[in-house]
Amino acid sequence: MRLDYVSIFPDFFAPLTLSLPGKAAEKGLLEVGVHDLRGWTHDRHHTVDDTPYGGGAGMVMKPEPWGDALDALVVPPTTTGQRTTVVFTTPSGEPFDQRLAEELATREHLVFACGRYEGIDQRVIDHARTVAEVREVSLGDYVLNGGEVAALAITEAVVRLLPGFMGNAASLVEESHAESGLLEYPVYTKPPVWRGHEVPAVLRSGDHAKVASWRREQAVRRTAQRRPDLLTPSVLDDGTPIVRATPGDAGELLTLQRACWVQEALANDMLDIPALHESLEDVRAWLGEWDTYVVRRAGRLVAAVRGRVERGEHGDVWDIGRIMVAPDLQGSGLGRILLEHIQAVAPAEVASYVLFTGAASVRNQRMYKKAGFRLRRDLPAPPGAVVLTKNAARHGTDTRRGDL
Ligand code: ADE
Repeated sequence: MRLDYVSIFPDFFAPLTLSLPGKAAEKGLLEVGVHDLRGWTHDRHHTVDDTPYGGGAGMVMKPEPWGDALDALVVPPTTTGQRTTVVFTTPSGEPFDQRLAEELATREHLVFACGRYEGIDQRVIDHARTVAEVREVSLGDYVLNGGEVAALAITEAVVRLLPGFMGNAASLVEESHAESGLLEYPVYTKPPVWRGHEVPAVLRSGDHAKVASWRREQAVRRTAQRRPDLLTPSVLDDGTPIVRATPGDAGELLTLQRACWVQEALANDMLDIPALHESLEDVRAWLGEWDTYVVRRAGRLVAAVRGRVERGEHGDVWDIGRIMVAPDLQGSGLGRILLEHIQAVAPAEVASYVLFTGAASVRNQRMYKKAGFRLRRDLPAPPGAVVLTKNAARHGTDTRRGDL
């Protein structure tokens, strides 16, 4: 890959010889050129800016030096047909993220055009599009003094993705924003207890499946708390969203509930399960009191789950219930996904999750246990039902706190 940088402050790019890009250049993975835009000016004062047409504050970067810079740096398509990609760093560009880093890492030649002042004359960008691929990229929703820092940040994110660059390819996959689209789970190293803070026991258990499930749950929880925009609405693998229920869903929820609870009643040989006998009014009432989520397929409400905080003796508890999947979709994994979702959206302060199921609902119990819930025969349950609980065990949770 070749990287060229054009700026009126070329010294900004000194760090490129250090750290990651420096190493990549040493390994022969990268060629780097840093260029002073003033080298393409033709007046005594090396002028790069002028007042804006139409008036207004600030100065605009003149088109001529930029035109000459692009003439010098943009190369004709390579044998593979790839064109140069010119990256204009600007606060009005598309947001830079891991997906864009991955895309740029596939290019053979990037030219970073770093603007200053109020920006570059628009005709430069329009012209660049006729000779190169153009990306206008923003580092975030804030204004820097110029695009140099943004170009450096983009470079670091791109270069570390180059094949052969990172020693440990697996760490590329596991980290934040990689494949899962989730933030990374918390990490720990030795010693096992530091200043009274313990490493979560599961990480020292040697049980790889449990570790993997704990990490996934932590990643979902962290993402829900810090970056809900990455999660909401949650989506199933096929892109179907999990969305908050609205009062208008009451009728369909009642139908789904009856279908599911008839099965539950038969499995447990008891017909007086309260949920089976609720009216539309009852469903409307609990919809107002519970955080309820639903899944629709082809317009039909096919699955739901609800949760709410209950004040417990040992802290707040997230009461999970009514995990319902339409009979024709049972066994498809929807229930497990809804269970994961309702845990992820639990308020940060809850200490544990609790749910009830039929004492004879073996399939449900198996799913809950797989998700880390424990059967609690020591806790009270309605007739014919059992209670299962699970520690919320978040990052920063005091691991000495007891269950329920
Ligand atoms: N130049 C000034 N602010 C910027 C930002 N947020 N992203 C990219 N380039 C910029």
